[in-house]
Parts: sequence; C-alpha cells; structure tokens
Amino acid sequence: MPALFSKSTLEHVREASDIVEVIGSYLPLKRAGANFRALCPFHKEKTPSFNVNPQRQIFHCFGCHKGGDVFSFLREYENISFTEAVRRLADRAGIHIEYEKDSAASSLRSLKENLYNIHEAITKRWQHNLLRAPEAEPAREYLQKRGITDDAIRTFRIGYAPKSWDDTINWAKSKNIDITLLEKGGLIKSREDGRNFYDRFRDRVIFPVSDEQGRVIGFSGRALEAGEKNPKYINSPETPIFHKRKVFYGLDKSKRHILDAQAAILCEGQLDLIACFCAGIQNIVAPQGTSCTADHARIIKRFTDEVILCFDSDAAGQSAAIRALDDLLESGLAVRVAVIPSPDDPDSFIKTHGADAFRSLINRAQDFFDFYLDHLCNTNNAQSDKGKLAILFAMGSAARKTGNAVLIDKCAQSTAIRLGVDTTAVRTEFSKISPKYESPTNITSPPEDESKQPPPPPANEFWLLKLLFQDDIPWDWVSGTLNPDWLQHPSVSRIISTTLRYISDGGIPPEISSLLNELEDEYDHSILTQALSDPRPIPQPFVQLKDLILKLRNLHLDRQITPLRTKLDDPNLPNSERDEILIQQHALRIEKSRPLPEISSVKPTQNQDPEPEQNTNEPW
Ligand code: UTP
Ligand code: MN
Repeated sequence: MPALFSKSTLEHVREASDIVEVIGSYLPLKRAGANFRALCPFHKEKTPSFNVNPQRQIFHCFGCHKGGDVFSFLREYENISFTEAVRRLADRAGIHIEYEKDSAASSLRSLKENLYNIHEAITKRWQHNLLRAPEAEPAREYLQKRGITDDAIRTFRIGYAPKSWDDTINWAKSKNIDITLLEKGGLIKSREDGRNFYDRFRDRVIFPVSDEQGRVIGFSGRALEAGEKNPKYINSPETPIFHKRKVFYGLDKSKRHILDAQAAILCEGQLDLIACFCAGIQNIVAPQGTSCTADHARIIKRFTDEVILCFDSDAAGQSAAIRALDDLLESGLAVRVAVIPSPDDPDSFIKTHGADAFRSLINRAQDFFDFYLDHLCNTNNAQSDKGKLAILFAMGSAARKTGNAVLIDKCAQSTAIRLGVDTTAVRTEFSKISPKYESPTNITSPPEDESKQPPPPPANEFWLLKLLFQDDIPWDWVSGTLNPDWLQHPSVSRIISTTLRYISDGGIPPEISSLLNELEDEYDHSILTQALSDPRPIPQPFVQLKDLILKLRNLHLDRQITPLRTKLDDPNLPNSERDEILIQQHALRIEKSRPLPEISSVKPTQNQDPEPEQNTNEPW
C-alpha cells in the first residue's frame, strides 16, 4: 500500500538510497562504462547480464528480464512487500517515516500496528510462562516428550497460555490495553450476554504464527490433552492482521531455503514443520488448516515453481487432501507427492527413522499425476468397466484443472497404458470432460514456462519507448501528436499513457521511479527497464520519432480499414450499408494521408549519421 507513506517520505528515502550502493551491498558490482554489471541474483547464469544504471537509478536483467528501481530490487531480493522495502531503506538512511494523513487508511494502519504490538507482547509473555512459570510444568513435559528442544522453543517462540479464563484480560488491563483491541485480535471472546469476555487460549501450548517478515499475527494453541470437549488445536480467527487463507506457518524462516532448494515442501502441521526444520529440512511450509488456497499457491510461486506435498498414507486422508489440491493444480505449480508410510506423519517419521530417511522420501516424491493414478488404481477395481470409468474420469478432471494441454496429453497416455486401453480413446474421453482440453494435433501453445509470459512488444513499439525516454524529447509535440490507442502492446500502452497523463497534469514527464511506482504490472516494469537499459544508440532521434509515430498511426488506421474492405467484398451487402462503409473508408484514408505536424523545436543532434546502422533490421 504505497499510498500510506507520505510523498515526501518516499522521496527522501529514494534520494538517500542510491541504487548502486544498495545493490552493491548485496552483490559485487563491476563497472561497465556508465553502468554496472553483475551476475543476476534472480536466475542462474555464468556471464553477467544484470545491469545497474546509476543515472536512471534502475536495474534490468537481460537474461530473466526482471527490472525496476531500488524498491523493486529489495522486494524481489528479500521477498518482502513494498512497504517493508521502504521501511528498511528508511532505517538504513536514518529517515523518520511519515504517513499520509488519509484518515480511513491511517486508522486502519494504527489498528494494525496496535494488533502487531499486542501479538508481540503476548508472545513474549507466553514464552516467558513456558520457560519459567511453575504452572507450565505439564507443558514443558509435554514438549519434551514430543522431542521439542529448547532451541526449537526459542526459534519458534513457543509459549504456554495458562489455565485461566481471564489471564490475558487481566494482563491487558494492567497494561492499559483497550479490551476491544484484544477482541479484534481474536485473543478473547465475548460471553453470550455480549458484555463480558474470556480468554480464547487457555491451558495450551502456543505456536505463534508469523507473517513473511516474522511479525506475529496469530496463534495456534495445542491442547496438552485433547478430548471430546477440548479440540486438539484452537486457532486465531480472521482478524485485520490474520488471514488464514494467506498465511503459511514457518514461511518467515523457510523462504530463503525454498529459494535455494527451488522447491517447497508442504506439510500439514506446526509440529511436523518444526520437526523437519530441526532435522535440517528447512524448505518447508504449512498452510493453516488442511486446504491450500489460490492465495497460498500464488505465495509459493513467488519463490519456486515446485511443491512437494507430504501426505500420510491413509486413504481417507489422501482423498481429502487431493480434493484440496484444485488451486495448486490450477496455479501451474509442478506438484509432487511424498507419501509418509503408515502410521506416521512427518514428525513421527523423522523421530522413528531419522532425517536421512525423510530426505530420501522427499527426493523420491512422485509426480502428482503418477501418484494419483496409483492411488486411483488402488482404490478402484481397474479390471471392471465401472472402475475404469471412475479412474478415467478422476484423472481427466484432475488433469483438466492444470489447463495445460501437454500435461493433459501426458496423463491421457499414462492412463491409457495403465488401463490397457487405446490412447486415442482416452484422449477423446478426456476432451469430453474438459472444455480446456486440446487434442495433441492442434497444440500450438509454447511450453508452459514461456506461455506464462505475455508476448514481448512489437519492435516498433519497443523502439518508441526507448526513443521517448531519451534526453530533450519534445514532449509538447509528442503529447499533441501521439494517441496511446495507436499502441497494441498493453504494457507499452500503459507506460506511455501514464507518462502522457503526467505531462498533461504537470507539464513535465514523470521521474522513472514515480512511473515504476505507478505501474503495477511487473511485466510493465520489465519492458520499461529493458527499454531504458537497451544499449543501442539512437541516431537522429527526432527524425526517427516522427517516422515511427506516423507509422504507428497508419498501422492503427489500417487495422480499421481492413475489416471495412472485407465487408465491401460481400456481394450481399445492402446498398445503404455499402454507402455508409464507403464514407467511413474514405474518411480513414484521408486521415491516413495527413502528415504529422513538424517538430518545430528540433534541436540539432550530435549524431547525424544518415544511415542508422543499428536499426536497419528494424521492421519499419
Ligand atoms: P493433525 O491432527 O495432523 O495434528 O493436524 P498434528 O500437527 O500432527 O499434531 P499432533 O502431532 O497430533 O500434535 C494437522 C494440522 O491441522 C490443524 C493444525 O494446524 C494442525 O497442525 N488442526 C488440526 C487444527 O487447526 N485444528 C484441529 O483440531 C486439528
Ligand atoms: Mn503429528
């Protein structure tokens, strides 16, 4: 939420955070002409294609196409939010942060800040209880019995909430903390009369749940002895800072390891995660509760393209877990499954068989669809027609969710082999289930990785972008001449429209950093920084600018003229409509023959090469 910081704070932070200094504190930068170069931290490479431009205060990688300003670098590199990036850079420069005086936003912000503070304070209190309080003895024994070391208790900030209905309430009163804040944070609940409150977490081992930056935002409390009236776990409800569907337990500690391992292990429980972590398997997260939402999938995708699910071996558990997978499959993540043999879960498996055995289970994790086919064949009679149909339908539906034609076809092949039936028949059946299914003969989409990226802009639009961000561009002329509707590529069109809007509002083009800040799409950042970092020289920029804009206008007009021509070719076209179309066509042609206004303020350029050698291959 960039709007929360005041404009002047953002400007101060930006001014104080030289991109070369900041990036240079993370990677060794080598000077290359006016710029700096390094091995890209965002993808594997042997020769440096990561570029830092001190004059424009941007970076761009010509290999993986990531690009942006100093804030985007920190966000990407540390996997933190924009807000957090601003905070860290402000900290680094010793700048005091001021916020926008928007009342709604600032009161929500202060509510959230208060809740963060309360969560932090009560975490400390419960932690202290666990370590010291005599009444926490059973909790200490319980954790010891479960093999949780003191180190793990400290790392995961495990605590104990005492056996009392009003311990939290009394503590808050003694600290002058507003009771309604405790309720908003889900720490207390109101009695039926709606006036009195009681503590939500009582006589439980407490696992604080943190956000990605390590701030405590909620709790999960395990009963020392679960029973019919005493659920095994009690969790924080939804609050302004805790959204179960978006939280992964452990992610604050595991994100770096997930990036390094390029895979995320997904387990069900806090105790499983802690056991794995302590055994040195640290690229692991646990969703809160069993289902993995689309938000969870998006979060994982920021770090890696592969998840490995830990399933326990009982069939009921597996079927439930598979139903919870829709969002993961749809997200385009590669999904593998490691089955923990009965009767274990990851925690007990590691305790019984050791970390190496667990690691080898993970390494042997099967591709999800192979696993699923096995599972279906074990739970249905693959010899009977009924069983075959059930397997076919289940595989087809699961494959369909990926929306990926190559994967769907692979599944059709393996299902056919397994059921001993013809592959073409399975493809046909799959295509009936799936509206998205494409038969292999008309697969035209590129492999998955490439299809996720939008197409690059056409060369002429890319060149226009590069031209427009040269020095001394006659912006008056450009904004009176260029219509962003003439641009076809959505990113180029957004970048240029935003720039023109700045000019019509304030008379001058925006700073690159403001532009990046305004453009939300990451791909827009990539295109813009690529254009700005492109090293090819531009001879006679004004001549090119005028030619290019004229060409783009005419292409735009042609796109309207062509369909008219097709209509006119239709012999059944009524005369009245024909006349109408002829008039339109004539108007468009006149428009097309009209020259652009001269650039009156053309300044002589240094470079007057008549034949621009770099551009002879460009398509205009
Ligand atoms: P499990 O029942 O598998 O528990 O629930 P566990 O993690 O193995 O815990 P132990 O080993 O029995 O102590 C898996 C996860 O599901 C959530 C919790 O996050 C738990 O870690 N859960 C489970 C609840 O939220 N509420 C419950 O009542 C049970
Ligand atoms: Mn367990």
